[in-house]
Amino acid sequence: FVHQLADETLPVAELLVSPLRQEPHPSLPLPLALFGTQRPNSAGLDLTVPAMRDSLLAAYASTQVPSVPVFDAKLVSGPLEISTTSYKTWSKMPVTERAATLRQSADALQTQLPQFCALLVKEAFKTWNDAISEVREAIDFLRYYAAQAEAIMQPQTLPGKEGNNVLGITGESNELFLTGRGAWVCISPWNFPLAIFTGQIAAALVTGNTVLAKPAEQTPGVALAMVKLMHAAGVPEGALQLLHGPGETVGAALVAAPGVAGVVFTGSTQVAKIINRALAAKDGPIVPLIAETGGINAMLVDSTALPEQVCDAVMQSAFRSAGQRCSALRLLCLHEEIADHVIEMICGAARELVAGDPADLATDLGPVIDAEAFEGIQHQLKRLDVEAKRLPAQSEQAQAATNKVANLIAPQAYEVANISDLKQEIFGPVLHIVRWTGDPLKVIEQINALGYGLTIGIQTRIDSRAQALAHAAHIGNVYINRNQIGAVVGVQPFGGEGLSGTGPKAGGPHYLYRFCAEQTITINT
Ligand code: SER
Repeated sequence: FVHQLADETLPVAELLVSPLRQEPHPSLPLPLALFGTQRPNSAGLDLTVPAMRDSLLAAYASTQVPSVPVFDAKLVSGPLEISTTSYKTWSKMPVTERAATLRQSADALQTQLPQFCALLVKEAFKTWNDAISEVREAIDFLRYYAAQAEAIMQPQTLPGKEGNNVLGITGESNELFLTGRGAWVCISPWNFPLAIFTGQIAAALVTGNTVLAKPAEQTPGVALAMVKLMHAAGVPEGALQLLHGPGETVGAALVAAPGVAGVVFTGSTQVAKIINRALAAKDGPIVPLIAETGGINAMLVDSTALPEQVCDAVMQSAFRSAGQRCSALRLLCLHEEIADHVIEMICGAARELVAGDPADLATDLGPVIDAEAFEGIQHQLKRLDVEAKRLPAQSEQAQAATNKVANLIAPQAYEVANISDLKQEIFGPVLHIVRWTGDPLKVIEQINALGYGLTIGIQTRIDSRAQALAHAAHIGNVYINRNQIGAVVGVQPFGGEGLSGTGPKAGGPHYLYRFCAEQTITINT
């Protein structure tokens, strides 16, 4: 804080009132010094540091979003054949060499951080803080999966030893090997066009697979820049190919193509089900699918919670990234006793958010991704205007900015009567609030009944209650007394259950196994 105040170029008042402006990542414990979030030279990645700001703004002035040709879906067999051929050599390389290309990529990304941030602001309309966080998350994925692959892909002798005795059947030795599976299709979303794109392909590549990457239609430029960076860092062009185009044509053709070894997808539940059905209908081997989808994420607040902490967590969780995170808070469940007070605080804090052009350093809340998303959210808001009670969450500044910046939606908050009123995820800066009394476990049951299971926040000062509620929730990521976004690679493995995805969790110790085939070799000695 002292460090921030020392910079006279930003008014102190602005720093104090802007609830979304925070360090891009929390501090990590020392053992994680390996990853991008902790590297010493990332200490300067703070918008309040003039040199950092200058390098970001210079990159913004000089960086162009590359144009990417649309791939003809009818020609998908060509890249697939290249991928299958490349697999023969790439999969035979020692894991340490594949991991080295990921680390080279991480180093290059760190060096080019301002340019990639500029691309994220220009193509995906990220705020600068979100862009910095995202580049760092991509670096973390590269380093984490490199280290994980080296750890798990060593041959293991089973069932191992006890003292000097080799356990198992006398006269036999047994070894377990992990290998790649073949050509993977990686389909990634526009809301993390660098981090999720990179995480998927890094996991597939380092385990020995080759990749056909289909980025979101809205953000192919970021994807192309990353693919070029990885080729320059030593990933063969045949092992990593980019196929840009609509999901309905290019994505569908890739999923349906014979010979695909696996599919990893992040996006809507509806599209995950379409992919799952298409894979099930194919002749040939059973093809694994890793799907990470959406959520109707709740935060349960009891009457002992700290109101200021709740308010800060809600600002981050519901409105950061304009609510365009699958982890974002959609449904705030407030205990009746504190509801009026907390609603007043939340609306007051929301009115302090600066909405506007994401390229402006002062902006907390930028636009949603495109006109289609904007129209869809407006449609939902019209419904909520009829069905729910609208709360005063917007400032005049935010309202005025919506007339100047395309697809900008000011923060929205509505009070609804029942948890079951939420039928679908609204992927934008829209918060629903519901009041509750009685047994909080009953509230968790209602949240579970929504069928999604991605993130939940729990705010209480009763430790035993926090534990009981956390374990009763059928939800992949539980955050107690903090915000519920921004899972850190290797620290908070991320992913849900039920309608929210298949697992395994991205950035966690089990993720890479799903990309691998396993082979046990038994020798009669
Ligand atoms: N991993 C992101 C988060 O935790 C969402 O994709 O916010």
